[in-house]
Amino acid sequence: MEGLKGLILSGGAGTRLRPITHTSAKQLVPVANKPVLFYGIEALVDAGVTEIGIIIAPETGEEIREAAGDGSAFGAEITYIVQDKPAGLAHAVLTAEEFIDGSPFVMYLGDNLLADGLRGLVSTFRSEEPDALILLTPVDDPQSYGVAELDGERIVRLVEKPKDPPSNLALVGVYLFAPPIFDAARALEPSWRGELEITEAIQSLIEEGKAVRSEVVSGWWKDTGQLADMLEANRLVLEEIETRIEGEVDESSRVEGRVVIEKGAVLKGSVVRGPAVIGAGAHIEDAYVGPYTSIGEGVCVRRSEVEHSIILTGSLVEDLGTRMEASLLGREVKLTRSDGMPKTLRMLVGDKSEIKII
Ligand code: DAU
Repeated sequence: MEGLKGLILSGGAGTRLRPITHTSAKQLVPVANKPVLFYGIEALVDAGVTEIGIIIAPETGEEIREAAGDGSAFGAEITYIVQDKPAGLAHAVLTAEEFIDGSPFVMYLGDNLLADGLRGLVSTFRSEEPDALILLTPVDDPQSYGVAELDGERIVRLVEKPKDPPSNLALVGVYLFAPPIFDAARALEPSWRGELEITEAIQSLIEEGKAVRSEVVSGWWKDTGQLADMLEANRLVLEEIETRIEGEVDESSRVEGRVVIEKGAVLKGSVVRGPAVIGAGAHIEDAYVGPYTSIGEGVCVRRSEVEHSIILTGSLVEDLGTRMEASLLGREVKLTRSDGMPKTLRMLVGDKSEIKII
């Protein structure tokens, strides 16, 4: 099967990671200091798929273009395709019809992370040439996903976000398609949530007796659309890092376990207990950075303890006096405390932020 193309969906509205995604695309929120989207591009390239289209939204597309560029940094050739409104995954596929140009393709949801990569799948798709190959994984909350009903190995039915799920097998955000998916997508009507659902397009392929195959993923999979999933994805990726220390660690600091300290980062009088990554130019002073933490570029953490958190570029955490955990701080956030009396909170907090003082 020649000319397998890649299609990454990085449009959409990203409502569930607000306020971070008010100003920035959810696919660019970093996991272990690397944008989620880059994991998808790398997985495609690793599977030999280098001709990649990326669906972008008018609001956040520019930022995605700037981050991923022409793809040469990944060994790929990237074409950007603007989807004028987030009208659904099948609508995104139709928007990309000209780019796909009759080729088979791998569709990858830009906020998804898959431990196993795509090589195995691509090779199954190439050798068996089905009309669609989908991926499934057992989940605790199938109501939040597309769900498959199986009879042995055979898929009987697919339903999007069912109130009463027929199984716990969710559709993972990676799909391999042959050209018949376009006619199926064209025939769709908007669903109850107003979207053209790819799940329904695949269901109609099944009804027409087309070859729709499924595989259950063996490694972990995360849809990073929500805070808890984002932190979990960060934990899983950090679980696999190797120690690399390129920044400065002074004599009174300790680095324990697997830790990456990028160039220009400085640790003074601090303890970093991995797995953790400290971005370029970050300053960690008289602080404790605990396991499963990603500290972005140029972040300052002073006289504070942080753990199991993601802190984005340019933020400041100072004199907290309490440990921060399970948190996601956006870019250039300032979180500080002074010793003065009375003990009050003074805040400038963006729309839809969430702060818990425990
Ligand atoms: O994550 C897996 C799930 O992804 C599947 O189980 C569901 O069957 C599938 O419908 C999808 O559900 P979500 O509701 O989580 O999809 P979401 O709206 O988060 O969009 C997924 C990605 O596609 C995200 O990176 C944004 C992008 N997107 C989304 C829409 C609706 C587009 O590029 N264009 C769109 O119109």
